[in-house]
Amino acid sequence: MTAPTSFAEVLIAWQKSAGRHDLPWQNTRDPYRIWLSEIMLQQTQVATVIPYYQRFLASFPDVGALAAAPVEMVMEHWAGLGYYARARNLHRCAQQVVAAHGGRFPGSAAELEALPGIGRSTAAAVAAFAFGERAAILDGNVKRVLCRQFAVPGFPDAAKVHQQLWELAESLLPEGDIEAYTQGLMDLGAGTCTRSRPACARCPLTSTCLARQQGLQAALPEARPRAAVPERSTGFVLIRQGQRVLLERRPPSGLWGGLLVPPEGRPEAVLARLGLQALSQQALPPLRHAFTHFRLTLEPVLCEVPESCFVAEPGLEWVELAQAATAAVPTPIGKLLRQVASAAD
Ligand code: ADE
Repeated sequence: MTAPTSFAEVLIAWQKSAGRHDLPWQNTRDPYRIWLSEIMLQQTQVATVIPYYQRFLASFPDVGALAAAPVEMVMEHWAGLGYYARARNLHRCAQQVVAAHGGRFPGSAAELEALPGIGRSTAAAVAAFAFGERAAILDGNVKRVLCRQFAVPGFPDAAKVHQQLWELAESLLPEGDIEAYTQGLMDLGAGTCTRSRPACARCPLTSTCLARQQGLQAALPEARPRAAVPERSTGFVLIRQGQRVLLERRPPSGLWGGLLVPPEGRPEAVLARLGLQALSQQALPPLRHAFTHFRLTLEPVLCEVPESCFVAEPGLEWVELAQAATAAVPTPIGKLLRQVASAAD
């Protein structure tokens, strides 16, 4: 026997000697059992799936039993696994296998892919394990293995990179032993070429791994590019009367719902709305604050109003400047109030 040399040969030899061989969905050619496991494993780890898988099979031993069960019963068996659209599609798929295929799963990846909840990679996994079809898988783990082994740059789910990875996955397929090859990719991705701290020292493909050669294991696959965060700016009028400042309660929903903030808007508009006249007006340095979906620049203006003036609008409160920063105010407003309070000392 010659030593394995190609990517596929190395992986197959490694899977046979070091891979997983007795998971509950292995050692069967039953497409129902294989399909069920692949759907459950789509977003969920093996250890979590196993007890669910076993309970599911005990209640629904074949595709006919699953198709005939009420959807509520299927959902009960799924409860806790998450991503519940998977369970609804699973049930619809079983019903379609019964209605359109006489209760037998179709025997090719192309036909499997036409069924509810079965994407290209899941169809290929089922076809490989159940029918020995030479079909390529590409789930999150496999993308990571390929991005590292071949130092593929870019975010793997970006359309062009995704297409490139599919072509790569197709080009690597072995002529035979598709089951061991497919399982080998899964085993390597799950246990060795892990997202953080990959175990390169015990990886069978370490000597050909381009990421390893270039020290890029941690950088590949690349992260999703961050969307540009929109920028907004808004004025706040700090109306000061001696040692007090005027704050306004925000409506319960929306940004800073229910919190106290200085009246928002341009000084002239705010003063007119409140029927006030300022003795002095001073722009303060702008303040930036990052929210999850945008960045806000606060443009504060400090206005002094006479002791004699009176505000009686609902929702407005005079708050002692010394206490204002610790009232129910948002973080950047607290910062602003502390600056004003310390300048007034
Ligand atoms: N993840 C997805 N499919 C799997 C399988 N057949 N075995 C182990 N993990 C998997």
